Amino acid sequence: MSKSAITTESLSLIHPDRYRNEGYPHDAWTRMRREEPVSWCEQVDGIPFWAITKHADITTISKRPEQFVSGERLFISHEAERKDDDIPPTLIQLDPPKHGIYRQLVSKRFTPRYLQRMSRDIEQIAKEIIDGMASEGGEGECDFVEEVAATLPIAVIAWMMGVPREDWKLIFDWTNRTIGANDPDFQYDGKTADVVGREAIVEIFKYFNDLVAEKKKNPADDLVSIFANLEVDGEPIPHMDIMAWCLIIVVAGNETTRNATSGGLLTFIEHQDELRKLQRDLSLMPSAVEEVVRWVTPLIHFARTATEDFELRDKLIRAGDAVALFYPSANRDEEVFDDPFTFRVDRNPNPHLGFGIGEHFCLGAHVARLELEVAFRHLLPRIEEIELAGPVDRLRSGLVGGVKHLPIRYKLRPAV
Ligand code: HEM
Repeated sequence: MSKSAITTESLSLIHPDRYRNEGYPHDAWTRMRREEPVSWCEQVDGIPFWAITKHADITTISKRPEQFVSGERLFISHEAERKDDDIPPTLIQLDPPKHGIYRQLVSKRFTPRYLQRMSRDIEQIAKEIIDGMASEGGEGECDFVEEVAATLPIAVIAWMMGVPREDWKLIFDWTNRTIGANDPDFQYDGKTADVVGREAIVEIFKYFNDLVAEKKKNPADDLVSIFANLEVDGEPIPHMDIMAWCLIIVVAGNETTRNATSGGLLTFIEHQDELRKLQRDLSLMPSAVEEVVRWVTPLIHFARTATEDFELRDKLIRAGDAVALFYPSANRDEEVFDDPFTFRVDRNPNPHLGFGIGEHFCLGAHVARLELEVAFRHLLPRIEEIELAGPVDRLRSGLVGGVKHLPIRYKLRPAV
């Protein structure tokens, strides 16, 4: 068993420029799935890693949280790695047994049953935002990301957390900077991506520090009030763990859903036959949402680190090696999906890995599904005509595949 030669493709698999300029490297992933699904990649500055491109292998690794831990690193960078010792690990970086104990503390708030109680409010938030495009109907032009895709997830997350409405804009800017830290739009004063991201996290902590103090005094029916009063074995959890909870919900629930929404609309613009099919039969909405998440797969990769030697296919992953789980590749795996490169709103079954799988399966998956469903239900049936009104501007990131600006021209029917 040997480590393979470096391929040109593998060098660009996590480089942010690649995603900014060309989008997802589906050709390279398809070739890797066929020829070398577990592939050793070396980089110029960043650490070397195993690229995992098959659905079955990502599942195997994700379901072995003791052998492949998340705490060591969350993602692979194209730059030299540095440890953020002063930033507390969030849920997504915890490993067993602490991970399970912490996740269970709040998981009830994220079940479909609980969310049903909130669906009317989420519906109202979505309706207001989409009506902003043209409630009376008619023709118009906008940047769909700015107008809808970016606004909706922040509004929903901020509302779930109990953040006052006048502060939603602050949360929006900070999260942009934590995830888009590699993007020139979010860099300023000559600061590096790393510094920009860390400064934004400090701002988020400062803000939630105050909000947690306030919610301890005056608890309400919101997530920050719950985080502020979490206990394990009858003892309150450490203050920095409360901060970590706030951070993960703000960051994880934001860019991902934004990019699923904007990527989804772009997909419908590019596949108008499927848009018409959905308009004719709105009962297809749940499967359409799943297909959008499969097709777009907003998260490019997350990492794991092996704690012991592990044989995978014909390769030996050594203890200490990093692996990158490429979810968009798994979601085009020909062994799992019929016609994986065909977008079908009625695809069923659809066992995509857009929300991950196993121990760290997305806690907010039902929130994301609800947001996408509500946004599409308010918008898509009203579309008479829709097209791009300019070039699609992509985020410079090797972690989240994002559309930063999506200029569209449309003709809408009046809102019902
Ligand atoms: C379309 C939108 C979304 C996508 C594609 C997405 C994707 C993912 C993926 C792939 C993971 C797995 C990470 C891993 O295995 O290491 C994950 C975890 C997570 N997501 Fe999401 N997510 C989305 C929306 C949300 C929302 C709306 C929230 C919060 C309200 C959220 C909160 C979380 C949290 C807390 C985790 C960590 C779970 C754990 O470690 O147990 N996500 N997400």
